[in-house]
This record gives sequence, C-alpha cells and structure tokens, in this order.
Amino acid sequence: MKKLIKNGTIVTATDTYHADLLIENGVISQIGKQISLDGAEVIDAKGCYVLPGGVDPHTHLEMPFGGTVTKDDFETGTIAAAFGGTTTVIDFCLTNKGETLKSAIETWHAKSNEKAVIDYGFHLQIVEMNDAVLHELPKVIEQEGITSFKVFMAYKNVLQADDETLFRTLLSAKEFGALVMVHAENGDVIDYLVKKALEQGNTDPIYHALTRPPEAEGEATGRAATLTGLANSQLYVVHVSCADSARKIAEARNNGIDIWGETCPQYLVLDQSDLERPNFEGAKYVWSPPLREKWNQDVLWNALKTGQLQTVGSDQCSFDFNGQKDLGKGDFSKIPNGGPIIEDRVSLLFSEGVKKGRITLNQFVDLISTRAAKLFGLYPRKGTIAVGGDADIVIFDPTVERTISAETHHMAVDYNAFEGMQVIGEPVSVLSRGEFVIRDKKFVGQLGAGQYLKREKYGANNQSVTTNLV
Ligand code: URP
Ligand code: ZN
Ligand code: ZN
Ligand code: ZN
Repeated sequence: MKKLIKNGTIVTATDTYHADLLIENGVISQIGKQISLDGAEVIDAKGCYVLPGGVDPHTHLEMPFGGTVTKDDFETGTIAAAFGGTTTVIDFCLTNKGETLKSAIETWHAKSNEKAVIDYGFHLQIVEMNDAVLHELPKVIEQEGITSFKVFMAYKNVLQADDETLFRTLLSAKEFGALVMVHAENGDVIDYLVKKALEQGNTDPIYHALTRPPEAEGEATGRAATLTGLANSQLYVVHVSCADSARKIAEARNNGIDIWGETCPQYLVLDQSDLERPNFEGAKYVWSPPLREKWNQDVLWNALKTGQLQTVGSDQCSFDFNGQKDLGKGDFSKIPNGGPIIEDRVSLLFSEGVKKGRITLNQFVDLISTRAAKLFGLYPRKGTIAVGGDADIVIFDPTVERTISAETHHMAVDYNAFEGMQVIGEPVSVLSRGEFVIRDKKFVGQLGAGQYLKREKYGANNQSVTTNLV
C-alpha cells in the first residue's frame, strides 16, 4: 500500500524544507506539495522532522569478545537501533587465523538473517594477510558486497594484526576498491603498560584508561595514516576518542591523504572520571580507546563541526554489568570492553549537538546517516531522502524531552551508560523500506525483515578527501 507522509519538514545533509513524501513499493516515489492522496495511507508528521534513517557504521552484535559474547544480538540490537532512529547497521564480521573468509562470513549470516529487523551489512576483519586471504578478497567484494576491511592495531594476542598485515590490506583495498578501517591504538605499548599496572597491584577500572594513554592512540593513528599515504590507499579511523588522534587525521587530510574519522557519542558526552565511579561501577564505562579527560570533548565537537571528523558511529558492544562486566573485578584488564549505545546514538547527537548549537541540523543528518552511506557504498539507496531511494525514514519529534534509562531502553543489557541524562528529541515512527518498524513509539516490525546489503566499491559514490563540509 502507498503511504503519504504529510506536513513534515524534510531534512537531509544539505536541505531543510516543507514537503510531503509518497512511498510506493518500499521506495520514495514522489516528493512535493501536490501529491494525490489517492489510495494512500496518510501519516501526519506535523511538527516533526522527516529524516533519512540513521546508518550506524560500527556495531558488534553477538560478538565473542573478552571471554564472553556481546549481549545484544541481531534481534535485540536491531530493534533497539530502530527505536533510536537507525535503519541500517554495518556490523564487524570477525575472522580467525587459518579460517577461510567465506566461513567467517557465513557465521555472520547465520547470526543475522532470521533476526535483523532493519537492513544490515558487514565489514570484514583482516587478522592476517597471506596468499589464501589475498585470493579470497576479490570474491568477498564481488560476491558478498563487503567493501570495507577492518584491522585492529590493538588487543594484543587477540584481535591485533601486525603492520605488515595493515600495509598489505591497504594495498589490496586500493587494488580491489575497498575502504580499510582501523582500531588505532598501539597494542604492544598498551600490553606492556597493563602488565606493569597489574604487577604494581593497580587493578581498578580507572587503570584501563591510565594504561591506554592518548599518545598510544595518536601514535597508531599517525602510523596508519602514514602507511595509507605510502600505499596510496584509503583509511577510515574508527572511534576517535581524543585530540591526539583527531589532530593526526586533520594533519593527514591536509597532506592529501584519503583518510576519514569517526567518533562516538560516548567520547562526546562521557569522560575519564566516569571510570572512577565507586562500587566497580567504573566498569560500565570501559571502552577502548578509553574515555578521555573532559577537555577532549571540545576538540571532538569542533572536529565534527569543521569536517575533520565525518561520522558518528555507536560502537555498540554491550555487556551486562552483572555477569559480564564483573569478569574484571580485581583485574581491570578482564573487564569486557564496550557498551550499549546503538539506541541513543541519534538522539544524543541531536540533543547534545544540534540543540546545544555545536553542529547544524544538516550536519547532524550527515553525521548520523549520509556520510556513512556514502563511504560504505550504500548511497543514495540509503542515507538520504530522494526519489528512488529506499523509504528508510525517521519521523522525529524535536521537542520531546526524555530521560535515558535502562528501565525504558530496548537493549538487552542491565544498565545504560547515560542513565538519568535528559535529552531533547526522539523518533516517533521509523520505516524500513516503506514498512513501519516503529509506529508511535511501539515496535511493529518483523524478525528477519531486515535485508543483507551488498555494498558498492569505495569511490563508486565519488566521495573524496576534498569534500570536507556538507
Ligand atoms: O571497547 C570497545 N570499543 N569495544 C568494541 C571493540 C572495539 O574495539 O571496537
Ligand atoms: Zn554468503
Ligand atoms: Zn575498536
Ligand atoms: Zn568497535
């Protein structure tokens, strides 16, 4: 059935205007003011923004990590994402040394295909580079439409890859048309600092931050940028947490290196002092890279405003406080790294960013949706409101106030890192390819309705390092 969204304000990364929008067969078929009502279900969006669905380029759903598995899977994680105004997630498919890439990807398809309620794609982790991997990579791109590869420069003896692997991944990505993503922290230095801290009896959650200094992030970011330049390749730095790494990215961009940076709401809102909360509550705030001294937040906001960082991902990686985070009681290095954030990413950026005058409304759309869709080969099917694009739409009330709480969130975990925080602005209804997933703040979607997205090659959407500002 046709749907006509009337009386709303359409907001894209470049425009804000009043118009109605017609949906037919899951795509946007008309935008204008004189659309015939004929046979269409009318949805009144008066007083609301009509936004493209959020594209979250950074999630870890049902991922084995830190001796346990992330609590939110493709069911609870995508439902929570939809409540929060996200209609596409790109999740990290982990690989194991010696395992074929195909087998790793099939594992991720099995986790997701009967559960996801919104559309989803995968990035592929590269943990080693050899002839077998090299041989499989073109097939991964052509057959699976996976056009981004992730290399971890940290988590020694677990996920960490060496510089040869990073460099060869950069070379291959250039050759085959993919974007390399890095977790940029110096894992060797961190490993040493962690051992020293534990030897000295320093076991509390705050030592997670103290053993992962901002210099370790800045150094790895600079190294990855330099190797990208050497390989004449392209790089996306995930979860930039501090001035050290934001600066390295800005410097590299100024030198013409094709490098992009993502930050996350936790680094914009929370800070290192949260790790010192009593009764082991600091464990709720253990992310890698760690939360930083508060002054870094201004640097990150400014980098978003000026286009030196281009996306805001969630890095959704949720663990219960009771039963998972507490694996690290008495040894901070055993606290599973990560937190629940998929649901609040969009509203935190609107409330803290747009409402506080740090970014414009159009920048907000770019940061939560458009830019990621462009970088990861989904644009203009996803990431904007345009005729012919998927009707992934968020009807967003910019005036509603709410308090974030684990009592009311839809993620599967027993705490929320933003508990008690007031935010303004909330999705009222959310559509995925023209079907309601959230209607009047209630879940009405279907498990398995989310489709796997094969993505275009990097560069297909003519993004370039020179397009800093929207
Ligand atoms: O602490 C974090 N960020 N956990 C998720 C894994 C990663 O490094 O992105
Ligand atoms: Zn497959
Ligand atoms: Zn990471
Ligand atoms: Zn992550």
